[in-house]
Amino acid sequence: MEKIEIKLNDINQTVIIDDNFLNITSAFDFYSDETKVIIITDTAVGELYLESLIKAINISRQKIYPLIIKPGEKSKNFSTVNKLYKALLKIGANREDLVIALGGGVIGDISGFVAATYHRGLKLIQIPTTLLAQIDSSIGGKNAINFEDNKNIIGTIHQPALIYINVSVLNSLDIQNKKNAMVEAIIHAIIRDQELLNFIDLNYKKILLGEKNFLMPFIYKNCTIKLQVIMQDQYDSTIRKSLNLGHTIGHAIESAYNYEFSHGESVSMGLIAALKLSVMLQNFPKQKYYFIKSLLNKIGLPTIIETLEWDKIINKIQYDKKKVREDPLFVLVKDTQEILYQELKIDSDVIEIFRKKI
Ligand SMILES: NC(=O)c1ccc[n+]([C@@H]2O[C@H](COP(=O)([O-])OP(=O)(O)OC[C@H]3O[C@@H](n4cnc5c(N)ncnc54)[C@H](O)[C@@H]3O)[C@@H](O)[C@H]2O)c1
Ligand SMILES: [Zn+2]
Repeated sequence: MEKIEIKLNDINQTVIIDDNFLNITSAFDFYSDETKVIIITDTAVGELYLESLIKAINISRQKIYPLIIKPGEKSKNFSTVNKLYKALLKIGANREDLVIALGGGVIGDISGFVAATYHRGLKLIQIPTTLLAQIDSSIGGKNAINFEDNKNIIGTIHQPALIYINVSVLNSLDIQNKKNAMVEAIIHAIIRDQELLNFIDLNYKKILLGEKNFLMPFIYKNCTIKLQVIMQDQYDSTIRKSLNLGHTIGHAIESAYNYEFSHGESVSMGLIAALKLSVMLQNFPKQKYYFIKSLLNKIGLPTIIETLEWDKIINKIQYDKKKVREDPLFVLVKDTQEILYQELKIDSDVIEIFRKKI
């Protein structure tokens, strides 16, 4: 078991990385006998892990309230939130009670949002069950729901007291889902840790196969990087933006192609585009660009961007919600661990960079 403890404003936050649920029992020493435990999960994850989690929590079943929703991005909306609020009202949940999010990023986001807003904030534990959620979305306290075709447009920042990562649950997760998550780890490595980049290059197969000796340190390193960034800038005003490397273009690809590419695939191409800009405008070393491109390729993520429909994509970039100025803000890199934020007018020269082979 690995344990990371940090303090974020007034919250003492613990991250536990383990290969079972059993150590979660200790988390419940902090709660009174009166605490109600509301577990939000989806039908797929619930069927697989709800019972073993409830057994591990080891408190009276009368105080545990599972709320089960449909899986998938389509659930991340006000209609689901509305149903969950009604259920909380019926249960009589109050500020002393606890919400547990058991699932991937979708469950993490909905539960985080509900926990943040109901009674102006219930306590929260994240139990992420996808690789993406374990290395990225469960850390940092951001949550969001979609509204009228706008992804993640409504949300808050609400820190969980505990993030409990059980790596064994990844055994039931499909391989494509794991591959998609790897791009986020590569982004963490580019912005903070060259060693992690080499570790991924050497060991990505073992990580994807779920070999614990590689998977657990991999998750530990990613959580540490994200926590370090969050500790410096919880509210996304400075350095937290660096996590957005590859995402400005990635999100635009996702929506320009009507979600035909997954988030991981889109961000993989968005990362290549951002690195190409970095090579051309900031002298990012070409050999590192090729190294990262080949790594994404080996993992099975798309990297060919020259033939994408850039007019369509650029059009979407203009609508990026992170755009606070006239020209969109790109995260570029001068070198690994050397980040720059650059407002860039997207003219024909920039599009030429995306279209050209380097
Ligand atoms: N809040 C943040 O900081 C943040 C960061 C990144 C992404 N996100 C959000 O995360 C979401 C994507 O999350 P995701 O990729 O985890 O997808 P997901 O939550 O939709 O899960 C994918 C599928 O896997 C199933 N699943 C989950 N765990 C499983 C397991 N262990 N075994 C078998 N099946 C399992 C789920 O039922 C679901 O059908 C997006 O909505 C995105 O916006 C949030
Ligand atoms: Zn992402």
